[in-house]
Amino acid sequence: MAFDIDRVRAEFPSLSVTDEGQRRIYFDNPGGTQICRRALDRMQDYLIHANTNTHGPFRTSALTDAIIEETHRALADFVGASDPGEIVFGQNMTTITLHLSRSLAHTFRPGDEIVVTRMDHDANVSPWLLVARDLGLTVRWIDFDPQTYRFTPESIDAAITPNTKLVAVNYASNALGTVNDVKAVIDHAHSVGALTYVDSVQYSPHFLTDVKAIGCDFLACSAYKYYGPHQGMVWGRRELLERLEPYKVRPADNHLPTRWETGTQSHEGMAGTLGAVEHFEWIGQEMGGGGATRRERLRAGFQAQAAWEKEIGRHLIEGLLAIPGVTIHGLTAPEDLQDRVPTVGMVKAGTDPETMARRLADANIFTWPGNYYAIEVIGRLGLEIDSGMLRIGLGQYNTKAEIDDLLNILDT
Ligand SMILES: Cc1ncc(COP(=O)(O)O)c(C=O)c1O
Repeated sequence: MAFDIDRVRAEFPSLSVTDEGQRRIYFDNPGGTQICRRALDRMQDYLIHANTNTHGPFRTSALTDAIIEETHRALADFVGASDPGEIVFGQNMTTITLHLSRSLAHTFRPGDEIVVTRMDHDANVSPWLLVARDLGLTVRWIDFDPQTYRFTPESIDAAITPNTKLVAVNYASNALGTVNDVKAVIDHAHSVGALTYVDSVQYSPHFLTDVKAIGCDFLACSAYKYYGPHQGMVWGRRELLERLEPYKVRPADNHLPTRWETGTQSHEGMAGTLGAVEHFEWIGQEMGGGGATRRERLRAGFQAQAAWEKEIGRHLIEGLLAIPGVTIHGLTAPEDLQDRVPTVGMVKAGTDPETMARRLADANIFTWPGNYYAIEVIGRLGLEIDSGMLRIGLGQYNTKAEIDDLLNILDT
């Protein structure tokens, strides 16, 4: 059973939207994907049948509690955790990370060090820089090689010291597309007793996430990057989420996960996130050979998707490299493609990313010019922070025909 692109596309109502008769092509996926029908249905169903606040003695509240519980269970399966209490929802990855970093700051002491990377989106850099600034801690940086687009082992060795207390690292780059060997970084961090905070926002839409396999302490992702609504989530080890003190109001429940889920959450966002997980399960069931458990169906779904994304990713990369003047900042060799997501940052001699994006937009093809908050990456590549690169980010619903439309415009 292979990935059936036509059936997958039929699951996305926005793919059939036209503007003055012209189709849309969504290559802006790393900034936010289109929403799948199951997520939309779940949200609408929640808002019509169950909309209220939690823990009330009446039907809508009981339904709300049930959908929240089920979404925590689904997300535990999604990231490979066994404990739904370890799933913390919040507005988005940035907000939850700022929230958690404030609590983690209480565990740091003068002389402690924090490690961040030059490959991360700023959402996994600034929260830690702010903690370091407030407490006077030392910040060390893991660097990447601008020729190989991978972390350099020497910089990992140099950055992580016996004083390191936290290592914040990204799983897949939102600018280069590189998938990092986070397990090696995590193992290294743990060898000196440091905690690890993994930004999986760009990894989780493309590959099955497994917090146990990589052994991290925290892992964050966002459902709007994997065909769900605007909803953030962090997985954290129970022992840490229980031990750390959350910034919360006094009457709020002090148990997991509620003690970290401040205020009234977006219940419809959680319902939609459940729908997004069910979408991947559906792919696994219909196109990946299925499975007895939700986790197995998710594994099958991601495997089916990965084959398709690798194929269209290769088509995009080969097409771009054939255009005179184009440089791709990221892995391009066929044998390296399993180490990247299909997010391709490129520049073209003689034209700037904004101009290319506008020309594509005139043809209703959506791409991102600029730095997409990956300011360290753009700086390390020696590019202008504001103009950055043109980012073409593929998702599961993109096709080779769409890529050809883009290539034809970039080639003129
Ligand atoms: C790698 C990465 N990390 C973090 C974020 C921030 O996510 P959120 O918008 O959920 O705060 C993004 C958003 O683009 C991202 O690409």
